[in-house]
Amino acid sequence: MNAAIRAVVRTGIAHGWEVFGVRRGYAGLLEGALVPFGARDVGGIIHLGGTILGSARCPEFRTEAGQREALRTLSRHAIDALVVIGGNGSQAGAYELSRLGFPVVGVASTIDNDLVGSDIAIGVDTALNVALEAIDRLKVTASSHQRAFLVEVMGRDCGYLALMAGIAGGAEAVVIPEVETDPEALAAELHQAYERGKPHAIVVVAEGAQYNAVRLAQYFRENEKRLGFELRVTILGHVQRGGAPGAFDRILATQLGAAAVDCLARGEQGVLVGWIRGVVAATPLAEAARHKKELDPKLFELAQVLAR
Ligand code: F6P
Repeated sequence: MNAAIRAVVRTGIAHGWEVFGVRRGYAGLLEGALVPFGARDVGGIIHLGGTILGSARCPEFRTEAGQREALRTLSRHAIDALVVIGGNGSQAGAYELSRLGFPVVGVASTIDNDLVGSDIAIGVDTALNVALEAIDRLKVTASSHQRAFLVEVMGRDCGYLALMAGIAGGAEAVVIPEVETDPEALAAELHQAYERGKPHAIVVVAEGAQYNAVRLAQYFRENEKRLGFELRVTILGHVQRGGAPGAFDRILATQLGAAAVDCLARGEQGVLVGWIRGVVAATPLAEAARHKKELDPKLFELAQVLAR
């Protein structure tokens, strides 16, 4: 997100605009926590994870009264337009503000990668690489000790991170919310993998799956005698966030931040800027805020084939 903030500030200034940062997201917008940003204020941040502005959940902003209060703050500071960098919740808020008539452009940023309007959002690539590092290490122990591991990754109710980490990490199985999981079938799959000569078993589990890592491990523990092995659990949790952004994320965030400013400069608003088929694209916020991106079922099938 910092690379996007930097790009918005510097390209905005290049247009001759005054640019402000809003601290703590919509909560800061309600409190009037706006800070003037010069080009040098966003120096030395492109390599930092997270956001220098801070972020916060803000239930009050979900109400129309809260949104109108935000508009009053914006008008008090004579702000003409807003760039909202974030995922589903942030873009739903951006849509509400644009419905109330305020010029808003969203920038797709979420490790969950569930936003309609961007094939890949800011943060996904870095979070995936963090998950992969953990999977690669676990595989070493799994192979050396012939053990089976469950690695739970984030993603809220979307299985994208788990599926991609599973494919890139060479997992034996992937458990995601989009596909029903039968623990008995999973056990059979892992047995077969062992019989085919695999010394390790790595199962990547999405936190939003019906059988998350804790529930799956419990099932295997309760049926250990019959199933014949236990599954050890590693929950990556927030470790997946906050990592130093890789080159892909820095470049994506820079391009999307600059594209958001371009949109506003040509009077385009009420859109989310994202990355579709290799180019920057704008999607109406109405669409991005109302729908959730579907996972490609072919990728799940591919993960199963590759696990052979
Ligand atoms: O939406 C991004 C995300 O990291 C999800 O993957 C995760 O479920 C959630 O946020 C965690 O939110 P919090 O940090 O508020 O616990």
